[in-house]
Amino acid sequence: MARLKVLVTRRWPARVEQRMAELFDVTINEGDQPMSQEALASAMADYDVLCPTVSDRIDAAVINGGDRVRLIANYGVGFDHIDRAAAAAKGIAVTNTPGVLTDATADIALTLLLMATRRAGEGERELRAGQWSGWRPTHLIGSALKGKVLGCVGFGRIGIATAQRAHHGFGMKVAYYGRRECDEATRAELDAHFYPDLNDLLRVSDVVSLHAPGGAETANMIDARAIAMMKPGSYLINTARGTLVDHAALADALKSGHLAGAGLDVYPAEPNVPKELLGLENVVLLPHLGSANAETREAMGFCSLANVEAFAKGASLPNPVS
Ligand code: DGY
Repeated sequence: MARLKVLVTRRWPARVEQRMAELFDVTINEGDQPMSQEALASAMADYDVLCPTVSDRIDAAVINGGDRVRLIANYGVGFDHIDRAAAAAKGIAVTNTPGVLTDATADIALTLLLMATRRAGEGERELRAGQWSGWRPTHLIGSALKGKVLGCVGFGRIGIATAQRAHHGFGMKVAYYGRRECDEATRAELDAHFYPDLNDLLRVSDVVSLHAPGGAETANMIDARAIAMMKPGSYLINTARGTLVDHAALADALKSGHLAGAGLDVYPAEPNVPKELLGLENVVLLPHLGSANAETREAMGFCSLANVEAFAKGASLPNPVS
């Protein structure tokens, strides 16, 4: 039987690429530059399976570029870069890699939270610029975390893992907004307080951490009006999707001091970073590192591969998203 033709749009960890090549007729984008929309569209006619990542825009024009692809096995948990309606209309299955990047992403949320509240980016820049004049009681004073309220917007796996670290590790109180209340064991473990209204959560939180999916439903949910609801002197952390935030409004709030700081790992049009943020000292800017550790990136690859294998065998897909 002919082996499935699979296109992997970026370089993956070596062990996963190797296994993929053992099992399938794989083309890997060796140059590791983002593929053009035209190249992605024509791939739809040449391959059985497309394995994209968050850096690819799999829109309707791409999906309608050909009739051969039957599975889009995304490398990553978020799938707002894939037009699922267009895929469904053509009977193309879409899968993702949930679970395996929960800890890594929660770790980055805490990295940002600590860097923002303890002004670590500012301090490092000052030191490297040779401008550190020595210890003094009033130098780069940040904010303590113990007893402060972490408000999670979205309380799925990553939101909960972030709250666990903040609560058990740093003594923060936990509040959250989401579509529904969390299970009783999580509520009891974290003494987590549910806010069914986002504005109420924003009003009580000392640090707001975003864990909602991207897409039209959540676009600009943290806009100027929402930011105005946030406590004066509070912080915003975003490890979810850049589209959740109106960055012009965020920059205004950081400049005016209404927000003390922010920590961002994601942006609306990556790799472009909103220019208004680049000159601000009180924002920490990371280049989408949420899942970037060796173990996690390998696990994401094997998870995506498991979906392709199941598809090849005609078995049910482990991680369907549509
Ligand atoms: C994802 O998987 O959606 C992440 O953003 C990539 O780290």
